[in-house]
Amino acid sequence: MVDRLDAMSNTVLTAVAWPYANGPRHIGHVSGFGVPSDVFSRYQRMAGNRVLMVSGTDEHGTPILVQAENEGVSTRELADRYNRVITKDLADLGLSYDLFTRTTTRNHYAVVQELFRTLHTNGYLVPRTTTGAISPSTGRTLPDRYVEGTCPICGYDGARGDQCDNCGHQLDPADLINPRSKINGETPKFVETEHFFLDLPALADALGGWLKTRTDWRPNVLRFSLNLIADLRPRAMSRDIDWGVPIPLEGWSDRPDKKLYVWFDAVIGYLSASIEWAHRTGDPEAWREWWCDPKALSYYFMGKDNITFHSQIWPAELLGHNGEGSLGGQPGALGKLNLPTEVVSSEFLTMSGSKFSTSRGTVIYVRDFLREYGPDALRYFISVAGPENQDTDFTWDEFVRRTNFELANEWGNLVNRSLSMAHKNFGVIPTPGTRSEIDVTLLTAADQAFGTVGALLERSRFKQAASEAMRVVTLANRYISETEPWKLAKDPADAERLSTVLHTALQVVSDANAMLTPFLPHSAQSVHTALGGSGVWAALPEIREVTDDIPSEPVGVGLPEVGHSYPVIMGDYAGEQAHWSRTEITAGTPLVKPTPLFAKLDPKLGETGPDWAPISS
Ligand code: MF3
Ligand code: ZN
Repeated sequence: MVDRLDAMSNTVLTAVAWPYANGPRHIGHVSGFGVPSDVFSRYQRMAGNRVLMVSGTDEHGTPILVQAENEGVSTRELADRYNRVITKDLADLGLSYDLFTRTTTRNHYAVVQELFRTLHTNGYLVPRTTTGAISPSTGRTLPDRYVEGTCPICGYDGARGDQCDNCGHQLDPADLINPRSKINGETPKFVETEHFFLDLPALADALGGWLKTRTDWRPNVLRFSLNLIADLRPRAMSRDIDWGVPIPLEGWSDRPDKKLYVWFDAVIGYLSASIEWAHRTGDPEAWREWWCDPKALSYYFMGKDNITFHSQIWPAELLGHNGEGSLGGQPGALGKLNLPTEVVSSEFLTMSGSKFSTSRGTVIYVRDFLREYGPDALRYFISVAGPENQDTDFTWDEFVRRTNFELANEWGNLVNRSLSMAHKNFGVIPTPGTRSEIDVTLLTAADQAFGTVGALLERSRFKQAASEAMRVVTLANRYISETEPWKLAKDPADAERLSTVLHTALQVVSDANAMLTPFLPHSAQSVHTALGGSGVWAALPEIREVTDDIPSEPVGVGLPEVGHSYPVIMGDYAGEQAHWSRTEITAGTPLVKPTPLFAKLDPKLGETGPDWAPISS
């Protein structure tokens, strides 16, 4: 293998939003964080860059607490249950995480507490008395998101106590006009409680200065993020809750009723997972290349309801940790850490207008989808027809159309007929003779597409990238229609021309296959093999069972016990052959009779939906 990790290569962190371990994932979730981040990472690896792709399940906070109550199990049991389910779904989708872990590990607790302590020492986390909501009927704390009312900023009536989904501003339950409990409609009682606040005003200048340099983000993400800077108030980073990371300070760490806010700990997961990955791969300091080298790039992938936390809270935590706010300070033991290069956010995948939601019953689980249609059809659909820049409605009709016309008719058919004809007439990849203009034109277009498609993928323009890659497929199909190799096969005098045409077609199949690899890694491996290739073309993720044993010594307080076993996604992606340029095919390579790449779907599916998710009229 050629060593592609030369001096020119970039170091790229792909930071993928952490799904809550409160249920199986639906296709709306993976269209926001999952598929885009994987297409991006696979492209970056193929382009020769050093990628570290990390994530895990988000296991603290009220989403877990509430679902544990619904299912009648402990929070730990619930988190264990869905951590396993989600890990399997994401691996089956082919998402090539270098590490997919979870937030209930010893390592995560220790890293979160390290950041908390440094932020506290630097003066950016301050205790303050505030008001919290409790339920008058039960006397228990009402989590922020269980208080609803009118947004004091935009007047939207369905605002939650943590955030207004209409204008995106973060809120406190006490800010809401006409607050009511989402559980039983009663008016909450507000009582005094003490919490640690992140001093966002002291970080405002630093945040604004950093955001001003982020000019090439998707315009809607940048606009939204800049808008938030206008209204920065201190935000509570602890909660009255018994499930979460303990606050690592005297007098706080052993209080059963106070824990860190789930969003404070979850975003730190990007860093803790990088550190865990370094430990698990035998080079404990390796994470620093992605976090402490100012030249390293970092791209964060998520749905739009996560923007606030990635363009404001997480950068603020990093700036405060680095001592870069108006209060100054010094970085902690981990050193000065990089801020995000780009927050890449998708909009929502909707189902006939409503945001994908389990509560409304409009839900298509990843697991069911994969069982019926396989991973690549879903990956392709999300890439070309997903909610990249605007809310997008999922319809079965569109899914059938994309699968049948683009994957099966266009791509599958090109692969199948080029390989069948070559196999039937030569049994091997034929030796080309003199090329004519039509051959050269196609070969040039395919070769140039690496540049076009690559530039689009680098900028996370997935729809355009997929369309440009498919354009090569269309050109190749047109080439076959025009050169009519089935006619050439009939006359021995045309043997050389036939060899040339089929060699050209197979070369472009190989090119298109490389360009489609980030989108369709599973079928790309099949095409690689069908072209006579051996070994791993596109590496797939693996689930490994590991033990929670990092760090071995307690650094931190209230860490989970050593020895808990859990599944992680990892993979040997450096060992794959896929790379982002033409691989010259070798004449004489034996071919076998190809099998169809994509099964066509019954068009009726577009009208009725599958029986496990029927279309309701
Ligand atoms: N669990 C959150 C959600 O599903 C996302 C967390 S992203 C993280 O909306 F980075 F904070 F972990
Ligand atoms: Zn609002």
